Amino acid sequence: MTHQATQPWWKEGVIYQIYPRSFMDSTGDGIGDLEGIRQRLPHLVDLGIDAIWISPIFPSPMKDAGYDVADYCDIDPLFGSLEDFERLSAAVKDAGLKLLLDFVPSHSSDQHPWFLEARQSRDADKRDWYVWRDPLPDGSPPTNWISEFAGPTWTFHPETGQYYLHVFLPEQPALNWRNPELRAAMYDVMRFWFDRGVDGFRVDALENLMPNPDLGDNPPNPDWVESMGPARSHLAVNIKHQPEILAAGRDMRAVANEYDPERLLVGEIYGTTEQLMKYYGENHDAFQLPFNFLLIEAVWEAEPLAGMIRAYEAALPEGAWPNWVLGNHDRPRIASRIGPWRARLAAMLLLTLRGTPTLYQGDELGMENVPIPPEAVQDPWERNVPGQGLGRDPVRTPIAWETGPGAGFTTGTPWLPIDPRPEVAVETQQADPGSMLAFQKALLALRKREKALTLGDLTGVNATGEVLHYRRTFEGRTLAVTLNLGETAAPCPDPGTCLISTHGNDSGDLAPGEGRVLAQ
Ligand code: NOJ
Repeated sequence: MTHQATQPWWKEGVIYQIYPRSFMDSTGDGIGDLEGIRQRLPHLVDLGIDAIWISPIFPSPMKDAGYDVADYCDIDPLFGSLEDFERLSAAVKDAGLKLLLDFVPSHSSDQHPWFLEARQSRDADKRDWYVWRDPLPDGSPPTNWISEFAGPTWTFHPETGQYYLHVFLPEQPALNWRNPELRAAMYDVMRFWFDRGVDGFRVDALENLMPNPDLGDNPPNPDWVESMGPARSHLAVNIKHQPEILAAGRDMRAVANEYDPERLLVGEIYGTTEQLMKYYGENHDAFQLPFNFLLIEAVWEAEPLAGMIRAYEAALPEGAWPNWVLGNHDRPRIASRIGPWRARLAAMLLLTLRGTPTLYQGDELGMENVPIPPEAVQDPWERNVPGQGLGRDPVRTPIAWETGPGAGFTTGTPWLPIDPRPEVAVETQQADPGSMLAFQKALLALRKREKALTLGDLTGVNATGEVLHYRRTFEGRTLAVTLNLGETAAPCPDPGTCLISTHGNDSGDLAPGEGRVLAQ
C-alpha cells in the first residue's frame, strides 16, 4: 500500500486522446469545441479513464488541423475562448480527471507573428527564430530533404533571397531550437498553460525538433516503395533524432518541475526502440512517457507480438515507465487495421500490458475508418498525395453520440462525414450490455480494481500457436492474460478463474479473437 501511495498518477492512469474537432459541437458549426467537451465529460467519467489529452485548440489557420499554431497562448474561436478553457479545466478537475494539452514546439504557423516578423528582412529581430539558408549556387534548395506531406522541406522566400525550412507544410515553418531566445519563449508558453493548471503536455513531433541542415543531403532509402509516401524515399537521418533534442527535453522537464514533478510530459516520437529510449533522458530528467507506437506498427500475430513486447521491456532504461498506444488521429483505426472481430482483444492487450495506455477517442466504441468522398477531403496529406491511403480524415470523423441526423454531435453539417451505422453510436452501445463500450468500461473497471494490471510485474510473455499470453503479478496476486489472435479456436494456455472475456465466456477453448483475464 505504501508502495502505491508513492506512485505518480500517470503510472496507473489511462490517457484518453480527444480530437476536439470531432468530439462534440456545441455551436452548430459542424466542428467540435471546448464547451462540447465539457458537456460530454460524463461519458469519459462513466468510461473510467483518468486523463484527457486534447489535440491543439490554439489560434490557427487550420492548414494542418491546428498543428499550425499562430498563437500559443490563446484559444481558436472555432473551439471557444480562454474563458471556455477555464470552465472546461475546472469541470475536468471536478470530475477527478487530469488535463493534458498538445504542445507543438517544432514548428509554428506561417501566420504566427514571430514568422511574420522573421520574414521581414535578413536582419529582422526574430529572423533566427526560424531556419533560413541560402540557395545553392544554381538556386536550388540547400538540401534534398523531402517534407512529411510531400515536396521539398525548403520554400524560397524571394523578398529576402533565402529558403526557410519546414518539415511539414510550407505553412508550418520550423522553429529554430538552436536559438536561446526562441527556446525561452517556448518555455514561457509551457508556463502560460501550467499557470492555468494543466497537468502536462503531449509534445508534438519531437524527433523533428532540431533538424541539422549543415549535415547536408539525406541518403536514399533502399527499402522504399511508393505506398510509403514521398517523405520515406530518403532516410531522414539529418532531420530526425538529432542528439541535441535531449537537452531541450531536459529543459522542458525542468520547466514542468518548477510546478510539480508529477506534471507529465509525453513525447510524440516515431523511431526505433533504441531511439525512443533516449528520450527518457537519464534518471527521469526528460520525458516520463516517450510514446511507444509499436502496436500501431505491429504485425498482429502472436509470436512477433510477444517478441516485440519482450524487446521493448528489455530496452527500457532503469526505472523508466513503459506506455502503449493503439491508435491516434494520424493512423488508421485499430478496428480497421486488424478487423473488428479482434478490436476487443486489442483493447484487452492495451489495458493489460505493463505501462500507461493511451486510448484514442472512438476506439472505445470500436469505430472504424470512415470512407471520405473526394469532395469531403480535409487533410493536406491526402490532397498532396491522393489515393494512396496516407490521408488521415477516415480516422478523424466525429463521434456518433446518438442515431439520426447530426448524430448528437452537431445540429449543423459535420466537418467530416459521420459513420451512420446505429451500432457505433454511444446511445446504442449504452443500452446494450454486450456492446464494445460496455466491454471497455468493464475492462477499465477491472484495471482499476486489480493493482496487478497497473503496477504489477509483467512476466512470461509468450506465444502458444496464435495465442499471446503473459502474467501480471502484484503483492502475491497473479493474473494471466490470454489472447487468441487466430481465426480458429485454441486451448487457453494459462487457465484460472475468468475475470473478464471479450466474448463473455468463462471456460473452454478461446474463440477466434477472444481474450481472457484469469486469476491464478
Ligand atoms: C504530429 C501530429 O500528430 C500530426 O497530426 C501533425 O500533422 C504533425 N505532427 C505536424 O504537427
